[in-house]
Amino acid sequence: MGKIALIGAAGQIGTPLSLLCKSSDLFDEISLYDIVHVPGIATDLMHIDTKAKVSGYLPEDGGLKKALTGADIVVVTAGIARKPGMTRDDLFKTNAGIIRDIFFEIAETCPNAISCIVTNPVNSTVPVAAEALKKAGVFEPTRLFGVTTLDVVRASTFAAHALGGSAEPKHFKVPVIGGHSGATILPLYSQAKPTVNLSDEELAPVINRVQFGGDEIVKSKQGAGSATTCMAYAGFRFVKAIMSARDGQTVSEEAYVYLPGVPGGKEIAAQLGVDYFAVKIEIGKNGASQALPIGQISANEEKLLEVAVSDLKANIATGVSFMRS
Ligand code: LMR
Repeated sequence: MGKIALIGAAGQIGTPLSLLCKSSDLFDEISLYDIVHVPGIATDLMHIDTKAKVSGYLPEDGGLKKALTGADIVVVTAGIARKPGMTRDDLFKTNAGIIRDIFFEIAETCPNAISCIVTNPVNSTVPVAAEALKKAGVFEPTRLFGVTTLDVVRASTFAAHALGGSAEPKHFKVPVIGGHSGATILPLYSQAKPTVNLSDEELAPVINRVQFGGDEIVKSKQGAGSATTCMAYAGFRFVKAIMSARDGQTVSEEAYVYLPGVPGGKEIAAQLGVDYFAVKIEIGKNGASQALPIGQISANEEKLLEVAVSDLKANIATGVSFMRS
């Protein structure tokens, strides 16, 4: 049990995520923060018959500080979403400042909380958050995660779709490494358990669909935004993993982290030549306890990895230089 703060809770990811949190019975306290509507959303959620006390805070009267006070976990979904024709990088200009300000407040109010960033472009907003926490002298890499769980969910789902018939999405465990944008997303079907029985030719469009699944939704919503419910589902899966780890269970999920600051991560960072990267992370009571090696991958995945790393370097530099300039 504990307190979760959902920052951006009036948004189309934040609200379904708040419902999943309230209906889960995993929390004593849920605080919602946004620039509009959250007091009403909190009242609405309080009619659900689970014990968590839900409060909503607007920016007035130090609302962000109040929402973050005593939080064990913070999930940040605040910021704008894509419209057709936009890449996640196009969101950076607006969302970077939002993330910076939220993380300055986290540094002051709940520096020991586990922070999970959903706000895009995750490849760059996580470095922005890390730099903000560093500036405040409280950066602990084991407690800062970029949420890439939706890519993992998609990798299982799309494999099952491609196999057709009675294939069950959840049956397939497919590691997804890299980042959370286009070619930086690298599903490792060579390591899928059980084996995904598709030829290289059949697999190529599945890999592409995982990499560009976000665009599929943006296009389909025709200007009304990007992934919301599946992102809330994936974000909640990650939150559940953190809560299980707090309960003493051994859990692992892929997440985008500052590798040199996570046990086992230095070696991976040196191997790849990049500091921020999503790999499978073992999560313990206090956050990331171990970054797991990438392991053996296919020749095609090696090629895709090179592209992913090169794109990621640019995304990371964007985040770091925003905070250092
Ligand atoms: C996604 O993967 O669907 C999200 O990151 C939203 C987006 O902009 O694609």
